[in-house]
Amino acid sequence: MSRSPSLNLFEKARKLIPGGVNSPVRFFQPYPFFTNNARGSHIWDIDGNEYVDYCMGYGPLILGHANPIVVESLKEQLEKGMLYGTPTEQEVELAELVCKAVPCAEMIRLVNTGTEATMSAIRVARAYTGRKKIVTFEGCYHGAHDYVLVKAGSGATTFGIPKSLGIPEETTQNTLVLPYNDLEHFRKTIECESNQIAAVIMEPVIGNAGVILPKNNYLTEIRDMTEEHEILLIFDEVITGFRLAFGGAQEYYKVKPDIVTLGKIIGGGLPLAAFGGRKEIMEMVAPSGKVYQAGTFNGNPISVVAGLTTLKIIQREGETFYRKLEMKRITMCNAIRDLIEDKGYPIQVNDIASMFQLFFAEKEVYDYETARASDKLKFMTYHKNLLKRGIFIPPSQFETCFISSSHSTEDIERTIEAIEQSLKLSMK
Ligand SMILES: Cc1ncc(COP(=O)(O)O)c(C=O)c1O
Repeated sequence: MSRSPSLNLFEKARKLIPGGVNSPVRFFQPYPFFTNNARGSHIWDIDGNEYVDYCMGYGPLILGHANPIVVESLKEQLEKGMLYGTPTEQEVELAELVCKAVPCAEMIRLVNTGTEATMSAIRVARAYTGRKKIVTFEGCYHGAHDYVLVKAGSGATTFGIPKSLGIPEETTQNTLVLPYNDLEHFRKTIECESNQIAAVIMEPVIGNAGVILPKNNYLTEIRDMTEEHEILLIFDEVITGFRLAFGGAQEYYKVKPDIVTLGKIIGGGLPLAAFGGRKEIMEMVAPSGKVYQAGTFNGNPISVVAGLTTLKIIQREGETFYRKLEMKRITMCNAIRDLIEDKGYPIQVNDIASMFQLFFAEKEVYDYETARASDKLKFMTYHKNLLKRGIFIPPSQFETCFISSSHSTEDIERTIEAIEQSLKLSMK
């Protein structure tokens, strides 16, 4: 496996860009590969290596890389202009599609990133309730803004900075962080502080501490308790939106939050995100209301066209689209489970829809602490061995592997084989 062009570029990048990367999770030891191009389920580095990709841009690419229909729609839009600073018909079409698909969304505001979406959703929840505090859960990640970088998952945990420097205590003193999947703890906190809590924000399925599923009735109970205390429930569906089902986790689990944040898939691979909810909440957003939210690139035509085209492709196929994706994940994860059982490896597989992750742990992984207790070094050895065999998964235990509609049966078979060999080496 040749890697010297990537190494040379990384050495140059390190002098120009902090850590040589523009987002921390992209770094891994000894240095990341630099990408040349990608198509379908495959990605090629500048060193001439090809990989089956399960990182999929960290989730947005549910159709795979460079879907030809999406690319064509982008070319057409580029000819018509990149940015107008005026509303377009496509934004309205996208808003209509999203509001029909996502149960709690009666209105949405388009923004550019998941970070902006959760920041704005929290702001509007505070304005609506007139309360200051928010509840988050350990291991969830809601972007890189000040309110939510407390015991956050994803790169923040990978690099040991779940609470970032540079955030004044005053900013996070209104953020209460609770363990995920622990209803008793939640109940006590809510009962003590209910008249001060504006919102509970959560990933309904955690995708930023590996994959962690909600226990039976966990989401329903949270919904009931927040409703009882007039606290707004925000589902951060930046990962799960259009991933678990077309209507996201709220459709999958039949639990309707007050506010949703969407990102990743909604932009079809381009920067686009949204927050939405009931009309009376969303009408508080400027210019119809007094919660200020704005952005030069909000609803820009390029991202909107990529998102709209992507969502229409999924919509056209309907339920079958998700069933096919799920079958691929089941085939892969069942094979891994059989292998683990056969060899007696202390490994847990957490999976749902087209998301999965392996934890090098003896016991069930159901929250941040159990995820953190898994063996990170073994995970990195596993990652490295997969890479050598032409399989690219996110380089952290605290991320999710994503399957796209472009992953073929051969990809899945090749991956199972590579996982078998890599586990053998990692478990030595
Ligand atoms: C659940 C969740 N919320 C918010 C974000 C932040 O999104 P962005 O990276 O687009 O700012 C992420 C990013 O991974 C995410 O997974």
